[in-house]
Amino acid sequence: MPKCTGHYGTPERIAADVHAIPIPSDSTLFNKTVKQICPDLKSLIAELRENEDFSGKADETVTLATDAGRFVLVGLGDTDAMGVERVRRVAAQAMKEASKFVAPTVALYSPLEEIVRKILPVSFEETVVAMMEGALMSLYSYDAFRKEKSDSKKGKIKELKLVTADEGYQSRLKKGIQEAQILTDAVELTRNLANAPANVVDADALAKEATSLGKKLGIKTVILNKKEIVANKMGGLLAVNQGSKREPRFIVMEYNDKKQRLKPYVLIGKGITFDSGGLSIKPSSAMEEMKTDMSGAAAVLGTMYAVAKLKLPIRLIALIPATDNMTGGGALCPGDIITMANGTTVEVKNTDAEGRLVLADALIYAQRYKPRALIDIATLTGAVVVALASHATGMMGTDEELLEAMQEAGGKTYERVWELPLFDEYGKMMESDIADLKNLGGKWGGAITAGMFLKHFTADMPWVHLDIAGTANIDKATDYQPKGATGVGVRLLTRFLQQMK
Ligand code: BES
Ligand code: MN
Ligand code: ZN
Repeated sequence: MPKCTGHYGTPERIAADVHAIPIPSDSTLFNKTVKQICPDLKSLIAELRENEDFSGKADETVTLATDAGRFVLVGLGDTDAMGVERVRRVAAQAMKEASKFVAPTVALYSPLEEIVRKILPVSFEETVVAMMEGALMSLYSYDAFRKEKSDSKKGKIKELKLVTADEGYQSRLKKGIQEAQILTDAVELTRNLANAPANVVDADALAKEATSLGKKLGIKTVILNKKEIVANKMGGLLAVNQGSKREPRFIVMEYNDKKQRLKPYVLIGKGITFDSGGLSIKPSSAMEEMKTDMSGAAAVLGTMYAVAKLKLPIRLIALIPATDNMTGGGALCPGDIITMANGTTVEVKNTDAEGRLVLADALIYAQRYKPRALIDIATLTGAVVVALASHATGMMGTDEELLEAMQEAGGKTYERVWELPLFDEYGKMMESDIADLKNLGGKWGGAITAGMFLKHFTADMPWVHLDIAGTANIDKATDYQPKGATGVGVRLLTRFLQQMK
């Protein structure tokens, strides 16, 4: 990832191989922006506008090689439709255009303070954060296993200068950069973990990752091994692990900023390092992407990183049940009845509904903390992808205040969530003839019946469930989400916790 620095000035005073300037379409603001940031290009840009080559519309870009340097103009679009998400996309589009040059140093200009204040309208810092998020998240590529790292490629952006042409905003610019650096590093950590193959990130490797992260951040980290998981009677985690030759792990991390006895927030991340479906085996086309079935766990680790680095004044616990779901000789069989950590019995109708089994043990474990809020995040159901595709995370829960706060955080970060109902009737669908519960609902409403299964283990704790099966991975890149793991959840949860503190 390129190094990011903050600057005040205009192109003739900022050394860069490419200057990227976001320009709104409103003619007054268009002219103001040109006049303040790049007056030397005034007549050239006026001509472009006259010929309708560039008018500042959304998704419009133009590149110019002039005596005064190389420029990328990016459309900020209509003032009505402008928002922080537009800023993220504009920044990403600017990087994409700049990358067409051999440009180790790129200067990206902030929208004028007047535009930020009147139109966006968010704080100047938030605009800077969005700019950097869009830019850095778009430049990510997973190349841990490639001989030629994309960073070393010719023309790769090495330094990103974020520039304001408004005097007196330098310190806010620097503050924004600092926060965005933490958030984008956290997203990168999460994407790297989720993109890593299952033979590299198994339960033990995930636990070791958590331990080393904990050390780096000064967060207490405890790993329960199989013996300790047995001692804790985590019947769900053990059942899912039965068909694997690798041992399960249960990861516990605790961040406590001021060592206060605050009621903690507890995050639970589904850590299925590979989901073959077990004996209810998946077709190979569906199995392919199942190395990312620990995206919830990865998002929780990324969030711990961000929260610790931002020094949020909260107490935060992370719980991650980790195992793969395999078909070995000892594998769990459809029809088996298992007993969870709190004594609840579950008839396993389908071994591919494994996420809820391991999450149930974590939800039970969380009760000891008497949490202020309990949030689980999991690639839980294909049904949520049917409902929402990759454009929203399915959300369910029992606490209005938390649900609303999550909704707000989703809007601010554009990691949008959409609530699904937990009506009692859906609970009925999880009743078993021979055990307390079964792990499979009917044909329909699969995202909700999975949520109802989890609700059974929340013991009236204020709880939110996030099903990221559709949002954690994408097969087609968008402006700042390259194909593969998106790192969804990190910015959402961090923002949520920032709001709640
Ligand atoms: N990990 C899958 C859910 C999933 C599907 C994640 C697609 C990402 C993309 C989960 O363990 C699963 O297999 N769920 C089953 C549940 C069913 C058997 C009740 C599903 O959704 O098909
Ligand atoms: Mn499954
Ligand atoms: Zn799964």
